[in-house]
Amino acid sequence: MPHPLLDPRRLAALNALGVQQAWVPRDALDETELAALMPHVGPAAPAAGRRQPAAVARADAPAARAEPVVRPAAGVPAPADQAAAAAAPRAEQPAVAAQRLEHVRALAWEPLQAFTEACRACKLGGMRHQAVFGVGHAQARVMVVGEAPGAEEDRLGEPFVGAAGKLLDNMLRACGLQRRGDDPRSTVYIANVIKCRPPGNRNPEPDEIAQCLPILRRQIELVRPRLLLALGRFAAQALTGSSEPIGRLRQRAWDWQGTPVVVSYHPAYLLRTPQDKAKAWADLCRAQDLLDML
Ligand code: URA
Repeated sequence: MPHPLLDPRRLAALNALGVQQAWVPRDALDETELAALMPHVGPAAPAAGRRQPAAVARADAPAARAEPVVRPAAGVPAPADQAAAAAAPRAEQPAVAAQRLEHVRALAWEPLQAFTEACRACKLGGMRHQAVFGVGHAQARVMVVGEAPGAEEDRLGEPFVGAAGKLLDNMLRACGLQRRGDDPRSTVYIANVIKCRPPGNRNPEPDEIAQCLPILRRQIELVRPRLLLALGRFAAQALTGSSEPIGRLRQRAWDWQGTPVVVSYHPAYLLRTPQDKAKAWADLCRAQDLLDML
């Protein structure tokens, strides 16, 4: 049994995230483990006389291991988060016609996709090359939710195919997951909160989110994932109902109608802010811990 720091799944994830430094007290490892982690470093000196770090910073340290998911009433944040969510101003949600809600709620998978591809409910419908419905296994155990298609996604009709998508693929691979395949345990389903590209990659606007959310909600109902991974502010806010910033939503227990939601940073943000990759790794650990318990 390897030392936890040498767990191959952990090392693969760190590597995929570009976080290779393991900053640990050397005397916590035996010589073989130390050599495996830091081949350029010699054996640890005897502990006596060596200054012990009061608190050892680990560049890759998960902020916390996941606690068991709390399952409050359907669609309601876990109790610990309810007060914060209630205190936070909820994102403005423009009204969506009841008729549209009813219609979408009743659609099966293929009609839902056709409905999405023909949708002109907001201004984005007239600007896109194509709507980007989603990719992956329709009964996936894990469903990943992003923000909105960018230029590449709009051109190819598939979510996360640009640079951020490559990082996402690497992160998934580090967890033994992939976007294509026949096995619903290892193949995820990937969708966005909104299905059409906002011009110039601007943020989605409240009316666009409001028109698209029923489609995402129906996708989640049909896929019935065991775990939702919300990447970035818009996905996190849509799935938690909170308008707090992402940094305050991650590493907390949420659920979407009984399905645990893990919140993490958007891969595009991680490409711009690599120092937060370690936090994203902690979020993936949380997701894996939850999956192991389900
Ligand atoms: N960013 C997203 O959130 N989704 C995509 O599909 C591509 C980039």
